[in-house]
Order: sequence, then structure tokens, then C-alpha cells
Amino acid sequence: MIIVAIFISYLLGAISFSYVIGKQFKKLDIRDHGSGNAGATNTLRVMGVLPAIAVLILDCAKGIVAVFLGWYLTGGDPVAGAASGLASIIGHNWPVYYGFRGGKGVATTIGVLASLVFTLALTTGIIAIISIVITRFVSLGSLIFVVGTTLSTAIFYQQLDYPFVYVYFLIMISLLSIWRHRTNVKRLINGTESKIGEKITAN
Ligand code: G3P
Repeated sequence: MIIVAIFISYLLGAISFSYVIGKQFKKLDIRDHGSGNAGATNTLRVMGVLPAIAVLILDCAKGIVAVFLGWYLTGGDPVAGAASGLASIIGHNWPVYYGFRGGKGVATTIGVLASLVFTLALTTGIIAIISIVITRFVSLGSLIFVVGTTLSTAIFYQQLDYPFVYVYFLIMISLLSIWRHRTNVKRLINGTESKIGEKITAN
């Protein structure tokens, strides 16, 4: 059943809502505009606030559904929940329906981490939001969220009664996120990363 959950989660994650909303309502391919990323941040740049909120919620929901599907189909196996969540992020990043050109997986990762380790995801999420408000770099806030949630889970999993196996999955999710943000990291280092609300040159 775990394989079925992982497979369905990948296919669910591969539905890219920034792509769907862009095509449906604006007749554009989000990947040809702004940063070229199929995600909520780029939707904000290219299409505005309301579409971006819709993308954030729907892409996040994919991660939540995937984790709960993994648990549901296996009677609560933590490995199945975490592996299904990871599969939904992989689906978002490399979607079979759109030539494997997807996003960076942040919104879906929010859904997955909130489902697996809610308290730590919420705490780190607040810190990440504060960092975005201060610096106006969404990519930096995204990385603070993913890496911070992973580190805090590695430190506090026993106290909060989370299965240790989540640490392994969160490390994989973090590495995936850092890899997908590698061009953002380069721009952050050389001072050319775009701030939220700014126009942007392509990735
Ligand atoms: O949503 C992904 C975010 O962390 C960065 O997106 O479009 O600025 O590369 P973008």
C-alpha cells in the first residue's frame, strides 16, 4: 500500500496550480515569465495577489493530502506519511504532465511539514515570515523555513514525540529545497536576488 500512496502522491503533487491558473485565467505559461518558477512567489509577480494566494493554498493542500493519504492507506505508518509527502514535493518539482518542468516545492513542503511536525513547522514558519517581512526575500524565508524545521525536528523529536524517521525525510526535503533554490542562493550571495513585489529578470 505504501507504493500506491507514494505513486498517487507523486501524481497529485505534479498538478501545478500556478501552471493551471496561469493557463486557465491568463492564457500564459507561468514558466515563461518572471523567475520562470512554477510557484506562488512567481504567480504573485506575474499574476497578482489573489492568484498567488490561491496557488499557495492549493499547492500546500497537495502536501497535506499526500501525507494523510500515506497514513490512511497504511493505518498510520510514519514512513508512508513522510514518503508520500516527499513524493508530492518531487511531483511538484518534476511534474510528469508538464515535461518535468515544475517549481521549487515550497508551498507543497509547507503542507508536508505542517502535517508531519506541526508545532515545529508553525514556530519556524513564524520566524520565516518575519525574515521575509524584514528582508523581502521569499527564497531566503523559504530556506529558513525548510532547514529550520529540519534542524529543530532533529533536536526536539524526542520531546515532541515525533518518529525519528521524520528526521531522515526532512533532511531529504531540505536538500531537495536547497538544490531547487541554488540559483536563488547564488543571487542572494551576489546581491542580485529580487525582493517581493519587485519585477525580475529570468532565472
Ligand atoms: O516559491 C519559491 C520561492 O522560494 C522563490 O521563488 O520565483 O523567487 O525563484 P522565485
